[in-house]
Amino acid sequence: MDALPLTEHLGRIAPVIDEWLDRNPGGKVVVCEANRFKYKGNWKLAYDNSCDGYHVAYSHRSLLETENRMAGDNAKGMAYYRDSPDTLAMYMRYTGNGNHYKDKRPNLEKRPGGLWALEAAQPGMESYEADFIRRYGRDRAFALLDLAGSEPVNINVFPNFSLLGNHIQVFEPISVGETNAIWYGTMVVDAAGELGDAVTDINALRMRTQEAFPNFGEVDDVANFEQVQRGLMAVEDEWVYMHRGLGIPGRVKTLADGTITAPATDEAFMREHVKEWKRLMKSRLNLAIRREP
Ligand SMILES: [Fe+2]
Repeated sequence: MDALPLTEHLGRIAPVIDEWLDRNPGGKVVVCEANRFKYKGNWKLAYDNSCDGYHVAYSHRSLLETENRMAGDNAKGMAYYRDSPDTLAMYMRYTGNGNHYKDKRPNLEKRPGGLWALEAAQPGMESYEADFIRRYGRDRAFALLDLAGSEPVNINVFPNFSLLGNHIQVFEPISVGETNAIWYGTMVVDAAGELGDAVTDINALRMRTQEAFPNFGEVDDVANFEQVQRGLMAVEDEWVYMHRGLGIPGRVKTLADGTITAPATDEAFMREHVKEWKRLMKSRLNLAIRREP
């Protein structure tokens, strides 16, 4: 069995990647240096995590509490998980070939500054905001500040690539029980000169927003991955349970195009990508790499 051409492998996740990219000027970003993590656990633990909206309220509790303190009555950062993540306006969609995304964009207000309004508190953001309003006027300032905000979507390309907020994350398996999880930052580029003198400030601010999750959130996830890996070595129970949402009428829906959608807290995506992993592991793969002439 040969590997699919990339565009076929991406399939229905490709337009979601296009949307992620096209919100940036010229439909481009520059990849920056990275936050690099190494954890003592299997690579699949990171892929299982990347679309999961269920663990947020308890795994990231300290980050949530910090953001809630700063957010007041507003839902900022991950604070929109604080009430009932089961019934929030966000969803998971499995698009086939192990690929899926968690779409939190229905939480956004569709206006300049809608994305910026959701951004969690960061050092210096108030003074940048005031300065941008003074320099560019309100509407233009908020449209520019949206470029520094994190896109609220997690896009996961099987087996080891994710677009999380503005980050590009790659998992590198080292062994069955060791993985590198690398979070590359991204900056906007302004080839057409649309942003003028704002581009440097936008990227400075975008760096601040991108420092937040890897430093205050990913550390929680990595701790959990290592705990899960140790738990998996227990001999008492060989099964891993990923049946959240399974069998509840009306929760997991297969759409006319074959994609599957469910609340962002269901484990439907895990069941589907594990099926794909199992199918591939049972196949006789042709691993020869051919270059185009
Ligand atoms: Fe997490």
